Amino acid sequence: MDLDLSKVDEILKRYPVDQASLIPIMQDVQNLYNYLPRKALEKISDYLHVTISKIYGVATFYENFSLDAKGKYIIRCCDGTACHVRKSTAILNEIRSELGVTPQKNTTDDMMFTVETVSCLGACGLAPVMVVGDEVHPAMTVEKVKELLASIREKHSGDMSIEI
Ligand code: FES
Repeated sequence: MDLDLSKVDEILKRYPVDQASLIPIMQDVQNLYNYLPRKALEKISDYLHVTISKIYGVATFYENFSLDAKGKYIIRCCDGTACHVRKSTAILNEIRSELGVTPQKNTTDDMMFTVETVSCLGACGLAPVMVVGDEVHPAMTVEKVKELLASIREKHSGDMSIEI
């Protein structure tokens, strides 16, 4: 897939050529693509005069950065203690089986969904919890997972028809 890197140039223009700009730029690029594409990192390296290996070092040090392409919708399923005792495993299994993903291959082939687990979303009182993008979904059940995925797919197909 060809990436439109012109938006990376726009991001770079907003920051001074200073090593202190590195992490904010990487955050903006990650927000743009949901991950850090290699070509974007090369542009950052040229712009800030920072070696690509240093940038990779930062990318791998911070858990929030990802070097792997992710789907349009990132589903974070909590498997912390509070969620686990309220059967988060069944919810996670349902999501994976509905989407045909595994812990090793956690993004769907159509790049629509990425499924991740987290150890606590800080909302234990609402367990079991999952987050889709920025949206928190409390007190999840297997049935609610089916409904939620169906509604996202429906919304997505609506978006596609508008794009056409
Ligand atoms: S353990 Fe799931 S939100 Fe805290």
